[in-house]
Amino acid sequence: MKSSLTYLLTACYAAAVASQPTGSSDKLGHERSLIQVGESHIPIWMMEQEVLGLIRSKKTFMDITGNNLLPAMVYPTEPRQKAVVQEIHQLLSPDSMRIFLTTFSSFPNRYCRSHYGVKSSDWLYNTVAELIKNNRGTLNRRVPHRRISQQSIVVRIEGQGNLASEVVVVGAHQDSINQANPYMGRSPGADDDGSGSTTIFETLSALLRAQYQPARSLEFHWYAGEEIGLVGSQDIAQDYANRNVNVRAMLQLDMTGFTDHSGNMGIVTDFVHPELTQFTRQLVHTYSNLTALDFQCGYACSDHASWSKYGFPSAMPFESNEMELNPYIHSDKDTVETVDFDHMLQFAKIATGFAVELTHTSE
Ligand SMILES: *[C@@H]1O[C@H](CO)[C@@H](O)[C@H](O)[C@H]1NC(C)=O
Repeated sequence: MKSSLTYLLTACYAAAVASQPTGSSDKLGHERSLIQVGESHIPIWMMEQEVLGLIRSKKTFMDITGNNLLPAMVYPTEPRQKAVVQEIHQLLSPDSMRIFLTTFSSFPNRYCRSHYGVKSSDWLYNTVAELIKNNRGTLNRRVPHRRISQQSIVVRIEGQGNLASEVVVVGAHQDSINQANPYMGRSPGADDDGSGSTTIFETLSALLRAQYQPARSLEFHWYAGEEIGLVGSQDIAQDYANRNVNVRAMLQLDMTGFTDHSGNMGIVTDFVHPELTQFTRQLVHTYSNLTALDFQCGYACSDHASWSKYGFPSAMPFESNEMELNPYIHSDKDTVETVDFDHMLQFAKIATGFAVELTHTSE
């Protein structure tokens, strides 16, 4: 989670969404247009020639360049895979999450430009590799970034059938920061965002142990460099936009472990996709014992904003509806003792619901 200092920059976001991604005009200076060919299709940046090709092949479409709108998408009106999801829920374990997070928060820090941030990323990569090693059809890769030494990590469970090219992403960020002393200061980052990293690891672990086979491809992302400006997630979202990857939905989990035991949690309503957010509220209601309350987390508060920026639908549930409930983040006090693994378990249940409901069938 990035701090709220950037609230004032909200207006810039509208400009960023409305503007074209880097490299969107060709060497001749010809502009591309953002074209959408159907409600559940991801808009694509096209050269004039490609647009003319659509016309010649009698395809109808809208030019939504500069509309400043996320794509209209249709999600299930309610969760429909309860039996499958609830069976996988049995495999989620707060104890396993505690073991994972205890090691992950024991590096002096996970700052994305420090030696420790590379070490922690190596540990995460090896731990993920160990988890998936007996699962054919599940691949992992590291994504290097030009400006930071820490690498993002991507795991993909390949879908089967005609929907395999569509992708559902579940993400968290792996880096931490001690804002007083990033390189040498201690930043366990247990909640920010060790909790999200742990939650999605446990979700992946349960899906693999259940031998869940998605129809759409399902990816788990651990982003590098969130704290210094969403560096890892922007690289990846931009790459997916450039390759026209059809991302059907992205769920970001950034801080899932700190709670005042009110039974409440937050649903971010700004810089997210409204319909996907509505579906996520229903997942909370169906699959957790928490009450979802809306709140705004501000410009670029976490990696979901990178996906929105490149025109992909994203949603973000949060540990509380109060953004600054946890007073310890970005310091040496964000330790494993301060997070609640039963609270995190609820988020693993929500993430499992998200993954299964959106990859299971053609809806
Ligand atoms: C939700 O369930 C967990 C156990 O899984 C429990 O520890 C927690 O208190 C429950 N929360 C609410 C708000 O009922």
